[in-house]
Amino acid sequence: MKIAVMGYGTVGSGVVEVIEQHSEVIAKRTGGEPLEIAHILDLHDNIGDPHEALFTKDFNDILNDPEVKVVAETIGGVNPAFDYTQKLLKAGKAVVTSNKELVAQKGLELLQAADEGNTNYLFEASVGGGIPIIRPMNQCLAANNIEGIAGILNGTTNFILTMMIEQGMSFDDALKLAQDNGYAEKDPTADIEGFDASRKVCILASLAFGKHVYPNQVETEGISNITLEDVSYVSSANGVIKLLGQIKYINEDKIAAFVSPAVVYNGSQLASVRDVFNAILVRGDAVGDVCFYGRGAGKLPTASAVVADMLDCAKHVDRKKIFGWGAGEEDYVVDYRSTIEMPFYVRAKMSESDAVNIFHNVKFLSRKGQPSDEVAFITDKMTENALKEKLADSEVLNIIKVTNY
Ligand code: HSE
Repeated sequence: MKIAVMGYGTVGSGVVEVIEQHSEVIAKRTGGEPLEIAHILDLHDNIGDPHEALFTKDFNDILNDPEVKVVAETIGGVNPAFDYTQKLLKAGKAVVTSNKELVAQKGLELLQAADEGNTNYLFEASVGGGIPIIRPMNQCLAANNIEGIAGILNGTTNFILTMMIEQGMSFDDALKLAQDNGYAEKDPTADIEGFDASRKVCILASLAFGKHVYPNQVETEGISNITLEDVSYVSSANGVIKLLGQIKYINEDKIAAFVSPAVVYNGSQLASVRDVFNAILVRGDAVGDVCFYGRGAGKLPTASAVVADMLDCAKHVDRKKIFGWGAGEEDYVVDYRSTIEMPFYVRAKMSESDAVNIFHNVKFLSRKGQPSDEVAFITDKMTENALKEKLADSEVLNIIKVTNY
């Protein structure tokens, strides 16, 4: 079957590599038919690349080639990926993608375009890179009411936090190391401020509960205000700080969805997820907790998921997958700060007796070199707004949510 690849960056070139290096096993799994690359769309000249003859800068070469049935979109970003994908789907060509930004912003419209073209739009690689999560959510866990999801959805921030926790490295040094290792971009904003994780939360929430959640509905905090002092206090409570995307079912018409640093206690599956690894814990009412773990980024892990989607499309040209992903509403995602109760980690300039006067019941934490005018503690469950009201007259140094996953 003829296929095309749009975008020849890290993931796109990985897709080409996996298709070529795994051609035999791919042919076996499609029932004998290999995936044959007919076009690679890329704006660079790629002179001397062994695939030179396949490159085109004209999208229409793919759109108008009747033999091309499946296309991988690894361009990234919303434009022009959205326009290209929509045109291909409406023309009846299946499209698979690793582009989380596009799925989070335009997933609903693109699934509707796939309906129009009676074809498939698959996006396994858009969350968790090489980790199977979209298909398990849509198929294997489909009999459950999902109660909640918590995920370490960004490898760069998990690497930075791991370096802070295990090596005592400062945030700035750990970020520089992440950049030197090629994990973080030169402009690391999307990773460290949580936007990348937030896009993945949108996709998971839309899949789990069937209504599109947009990035502007997900309250997002990154990790740039986490200090070694916080890491050290939390370690005295047998916990670690992780950047978590959390989704909670409230009722048919309401969910909570947010991204933030969170204290995870060491008994949790998520606490042991270190380095650049990702993990997604799904809580279903029938199955209980299931946890998916693996490499959430990188050339070959991501390409592994993209090519698997291509295989699926090639095997099911005449069968449409149903995602049950409909339109959302503006007030579908609640303001979690006024509704969801949880314990909080607080670090503040105050005495222990001040903390007890304000909260009555707290668990104090300690660290080496703790100044006499600084305390850190874990509160009982309350909403974030209630917590902030109680702390209105205090000099707060940091507040971190404590999760129950
Ligand atoms: N920059 C992302 C990460 C890549 O570090 O996880 C995958 O979205």
